[in-house]
Amino acid sequence: MPPRFANKVAIVTGAGNGIGVCIATRLAAEGAAVVLADKEEDAAKRVCADIVANGGKAAACGVDIRVPDMVDNMIAFTRERFGPAHIMMNNAGSGGQKHFLETPLETLHEMLQTNVVGTFLCAQAAARAMVTLGGGAIVNFSSHSGFLGSSGRAAYAASKAGIIGMTRVMAVDLAQHNIRVNTVAPGTVATERIKRSHNDERRDAWLRAIPMARYGEPHEMAAAALFLASDDASYITGQTLAVDGGFTIAGLRVKNLAAKDGSY
Ligand SMILES: NC(=O)c1ccc[n+]([C@@H]2O[C@H](COP(=O)([O-])OP(=O)(O)OC[C@H]3O[C@@H](n4cnc5c(N)ncnc54)[C@H](O)[C@@H]3O)[C@@H](O)[C@H]2O)c1
Repeated sequence: MPPRFANKVAIVTGAGNGIGVCIATRLAAEGAAVVLADKEEDAAKRVCADIVANGGKAAACGVDIRVPDMVDNMIAFTRERFGPAHIMMNNAGSGGQKHFLETPLETLHEMLQTNVVGTFLCAQAAARAMVTLGGGAIVNFSSHSGFLGSSGRAAYAASKAGIIGMTRVMAVDLAQHNIRVNTVAPGTVATERIKRSHNDERRDAWLRAIPMARYGEPHEMAAAALFLASDDASYITGQTLAVDGGFTIAGLRVKNLAAKDGSY
């Protein structure tokens, strides 16, 4: 059987760090030609060099997804290097937490700009190219915060819930062009950034709240994103797939329920 993404061209935003590194690396390992797009261009170049050294097809491109001209350049760069993209992975995002009463308006603007406007611009520019190709797949990145009210995430939650809503509309509007649009909603993921920023108290709170009692791994987010981008998901569109060890589906959790305890 040929590799899953043989002859496919993919763009991965935020490919210089964290989850994006795994997405880009695995897409290349499974046959895709990959453009690694990041505002940290040097980081994208380092990951790109690793992929090429391992026999993959890849190119790095500096982009700030908030800027329409830069997004258009990313699409043009991809077309020139490998041809139009069949797959758009909208993984770049920005986060942060502050109590609602202390959240500056600038923080809300920044999260909406990167997470909502950036995802909108990349998806729209990629979709316009996919229309000429006769189809494609777009995978956006939301978060558990798109569903739940975790402390200090008013700005982030607004932006990540926005991505879930936007995904549904994109899926409806683009279905006639054979373009599927889905979203991955990660739980907490053991990227370098998260490992650096979680203290013991925060880590314990997470481990208690996640039924599977562990953080997710970046490669587990990549696996879900690649599934949604692949032909295995050919009849799936407009969905948001939580990849979170059960965090967002859990209700009351009692460890040692007595076998005959029938009370509510
Ligand atoms: N790590 C987690 O626990 C977690 C949880 C829920 C959701 N997510 C989401 O998953 C995605 C990836 O997260 P991560 O943890 O790998 O993030 P990360 O911070 O490790 O990496 C994000 C990458 O995106 C790039 N980026 C940020 N803003 C950009 C912009 N305006 N233009 C271009 N590139 C930009 C950064 O330079 C960086 O390389 C994000 O959308 C994030 O919100 C992550």
